[in-house]
Parts: sequence; C-alpha cells; structure tokens
Amino acid sequence: MLNGKKVVFSGVQPSGNLTIGNYLGAIKNFSTFSEEYHCFYCVVDLHAITVRQVPAELRRRTYETLALYIAAGLDPQKNTLFVQSHVPAHAELGWMLDCFTMFGELSRMTQFKDKSQKNADNINAGLFTYPSLMAADILLYQTDLVPVGIDQKQHLELARDIAGRFNGLYSDTFTVPEGYIPQTGMKIMSLAEPTAKMSKSDKNQNAVVYILDNKDDILRKFKRAVTDSGSEVRYAEGKDGVNNLMTIYRAFTGKSNEEIEREFEGRGYGDFKMAVGEACADTLAPVQAEFNRLIADKAYLESVMREGAQSAAYCARKTLSKVQRKLGFVTL
Ligand code: TYM
Repeated sequence: MLNGKKVVFSGVQPSGNLTIGNYLGAIKNFSTFSEEYHCFYCVVDLHAITVRQVPAELRRRTYETLALYIAAGLDPQKNTLFVQSHVPAHAELGWMLDCFTMFGELSRMTQFKDKSQKNADNINAGLFTYPSLMAADILLYQTDLVPVGIDQKQHLELARDIAGRFNGLYSDTFTVPEGYIPQTGMKIMSLAEPTAKMSKSDKNQNAVVYILDNKDDILRKFKRAVTDSGSEVRYAEGKDGVNNLMTIYRAFTGKSNEEIEREFEGRGYGDFKMAVGEACADTLAPVQAEFNRLIADKAYLESVMREGAQSAAYCARKTLSKVQRKLGFVTL
C-alpha cells in the first residue's frame, strides 16, 4: 500500500523495437490501473544489458520506450514513469536478493535456457541472475499487482518465492505480489512461426509487427502471415496460425471468437487477414501520432524521467533501508 492505494509495478526492456506482443500483453493494459492503484512503470535498461546492446541504440530505445508508455495512455502525472538505472536501489536490492535465490531455481528458468541457447557466446552471470533483479524491481515498491504477458509468469513466481523466503527469515518485509495476466493477448505468437512467441529480438522482420510499423508494413505482414491449408476462420485445436490471428483481432476489436467466426463465414483467409491488419493499424495510428510528437521533445522526456526517478527513489529507499536493517548492515 502506498498513500492508501495498492501498488502496480511493471517493466519493459529497451532491448529492441517494441512489438504488438508487448502492446497487447502488457503496455495496453497499464493505463487501466492508473486511477485505482499507485503505478510504477519502468524502462528496465539494467536488464537489457544481459544481452549485448549497441550503446547508441540502447539510449535511443530508452527514450522511445518511455515515449511509448506515454503515447499508450500513461499520464506522467498519474503514474510514476522512470528508468531503472536512474534508481540505484534496484541494483542494490538485486544483489541482496541474489543471496536469497538458489542456483537450482535460476537454472530452471525457461527464459534463461532459451536466451543462453540464442546467445551461446555470451552466457553471462547477469543473464543467469536476471530474475532476482526482476524480483528486486517488484519488491522494492511493495507491489501488489504485476501486469505482464504469460512468458513472465515463471519469473513472477520466483519473485513471490524470494519474498516469502525473506519474510520467513526476517519477519514481514515484502508484500508478496500477484500477477495480472490478460485473458486475451497474454501470448501473441510469431506470424511466421505461430508456435513460437512473437519476440522483439526475432531476426525475421516479417514474423513481428512492431508498434511503430506503418500501415503498409502492417497490412503486408498480416497478409503474409502463416495460416494453414484450410479456409475456414474458426478457432480450433492445432490451427495455430488462425488462432493467433483471431487472438490479435479479438484483442484489437474486443469481439468474441463467435462474432469473428460469424463475421467471416463463407469468406476466405485473405479477407480475414486484411481485417486483422486494418484493426491493428487503426488502433496503433493514434499511439504512433502521439509517439512522434513526444519523441521530438527530448527535454520533456528527460523531465519525466527525472521526476519519475525522484519519486521512485523515495519509495524504493524505504524498502531498501528496512532490508539493510534486517540484514544487520550498519546504517549511519
Ligand atoms: P519484455 O521486455 O520481454 O516484455 C515486456 C512485456 O511484454 C510482454 N510480452 C508479451 N506479451 C504477449 N505476447 C508476447 N509475444 C509478448 N512478448 C512480450 C512481457 O510478458 C512483458 O510483460 N523481464 C521482463 C521485464 C521486467 C519486468 C520487471 C516486468 C523486468 N523487471 C518487473 C514486470 C515486473 C521482460 O523481459 O519483458
């Protein structure tokens, strides 16, 4: 609780251009909490360096991710928007929580296994301990609710275990957070390979729709999306490509599967794909327009970062001091 409100925390890595997976699974939902909760939304640059980044691109994407938060409806007056590396308490608590996270637990993380396969020449210690830094992000703010896509569920469960372990050893210190995983959009799949998650680090540009893609690109990518040899628009076991397109259409239009099936009765995949592309492009157009306005104003974005970091650091300090005292550190 913070000033009588429950707390929401979430983060996005500025490690690539953001996709409609990031949008539908996470960012789109963020603003729904702004009134009822005290919300912290972070650009997690410390996490991004677990994979090699080009410095100029990391810097640019950090601004862009913040601008997208605002463009997607997050008012900086109502939400604390900030950059992780601007609040040193994240790295500090991250280290402390490393000492309460087991090697075995980290070894079981599927994201670690995936990423070490993809970056076989750089399986660094940060990639391994990534989840305890993520736990620190969440636990620093006594977070009640964490809106994320389903790929973060395992990390979130580990954060809950770490909180419970620490509380058990040192008496109540951390709120044990709950996840908020949206029914529709929790796992948007690749358009080229619909059994794999749509990912900002995918090398195949046609597999991924970016939030900032222009309308022509969006329509072209949906047109090329892999479906199957059938022609019926129906949600069914094994029709991964069509199911994914139906999920995307549901998420952008709010329609149900039954409504979609009725809408495309007797029409082929071509019409359907076009409609999904249109719905996506129409929803993203105002977000893109606002993004373009904001990204031109670096001074404004920096002022948001500065204020956000100040307010986040104030809250984070309280938890960090509590942890330091409990661990037996000398505090001056
Ligand atoms: P990241 O940057 O990979 O993704 C940001 C958010 O987007 C969601 N997401 C998806 N949702 C649906 N379909 C997809 N294809 C898809 N791809 C990504 C993710 O679930 C996430 O919610 N570890 C986190 C960042 C993080 C964090 C945190 C999140 C660091 N600390 C604390 C919450 C709380 C990550 O890598 O997200």
